[in-house]
Amino acid sequence: MTKNIILRAENLRKAFGGLIAVDDVSIEVQQKTMHAIIGPNGAGKTTLFNLLSGTMPPTKGKVYYKDNEITSLPPHQRAHLGIGRSFQITNIFPNLTVLENVRLAAQALGGDNFRFLSHVGTFGDYIDKAMAVLAQVGLAGQENVYARSLAHGEKRKLELGIMLACDPELLLFDEPTAGMSSEQVPELIEIIKKVVNRKERTAILVEHRMDMVMNISDFITVMSQGNVIAEGTPQEIANNQLVQKAYLGDFYGELL
Ligand SMILES: Nc1ncnc2c1ncn2[C@@H]1O[C@H](COP(=O)(O)OP(=O)(O)OP(=O)(O)O)[C@@H](O)[C@H]1O
Ligand SMILES: [Mg+2]
Repeated sequence: MTKNIILRAENLRKAFGGLIAVDDVSIEVQQKTMHAIIGPNGAGKTTLFNLLSGTMPPTKGKVYYKDNEITSLPPHQRAHLGIGRSFQITNIFPNLTVLENVRLAAQALGGDNFRFLSHVGTFGDYIDKAMAVLAQVGLAGQENVYARSLAHGEKRKLELGIMLACDPELLLFDEPTAGMSSEQVPELIEIIKKVVNRKERTAILVEHRMDMVMNISDFITVMSQGNVIAEGTPQEIANNQLVQKAYLGDFYGELL
C-alpha cells in the first residue's frame, strides 16, 4: 500500500445538473488515523461521503482503497473489502431486537469471511460476535429490546454496532451525532474513539461542527463550496484564516 494510504480520492467531481457539489477534490487518508472532513453547510461533505462510500458515482475522478480502484463498486461490495459506513436509521430493522439487528449484520458478511476458512460460522458464533459488539457500543443489557423502542441516541449506537459487526478496517461516519442532544454527544464520541483505536482501525468522519472534531481527529480536511480549502492537524486548522472566514460566512448565513 503506497505510503500507508488506505483511501485515496483523485480529482473527484459531482455535478447535480448545473450545480457542482464536489469540484475536483483529492484526498489521501492515512491508515490508522481519524480523518475528519469538515466545512460549513452545503460545502459538499455529504456528497463527498457518498462518493467515498459508493452510494453515488462521481461525475469524474477516481477512488482507490489500498491501491485498488473502487470508484464504481457499490456499498455492499465495499463492505466485503473492509469499508463500513454508518447506516441511516432506516437500515435498522425496527421490529427485531437490538441483538438480532447486530447478529444479522455479522451473519450477512460472516458467510463470506468464513468461506475462506472453509467452514460456515454457526449461529452461536454470530451471537457471541453480536454480544461483544453490543458491549463495545454501550448497549450491553439492551440485547432484547426492540430496536423501535430505542431512544434516538441509542439508535445511533445500534447503527454503529451494525457497522462494527462486519469488522470493517475503514469506518465512514457522516455526522454521527446529528439529532442528538448535547448531553448525549460526549458518550458517542468516546465510543467512536474507542472502537476506532481498539483494533487500530481508520475512520473518516464527516462533520459540520468544528468543535466536535478538534480533539478527536489526527488530520482534518476542510471543504467549502465543493473545494478543499485547507488540510492539516487540528492545530493548523484552528489557526487557518481561510477556514475561519469560511465558517464566519456560514455563521452569518445562518443568521439571515
Ligand atoms: N441529490 C442532490 N441533488 C441536487 N443537489 C444536491 C443533491 N445533494 C446535494 N446537493 C447540493 O449539493 C451541495 C452540497 O450538498 P451536501 O449535502 O454535500 O453538503 P454538506 O456539506 O453535507 O452540507 P451539510 O453540512 O448541510 O450537511 C448543496 O448545494 C446541495 O443543495
Ligand atoms: Mg451533510
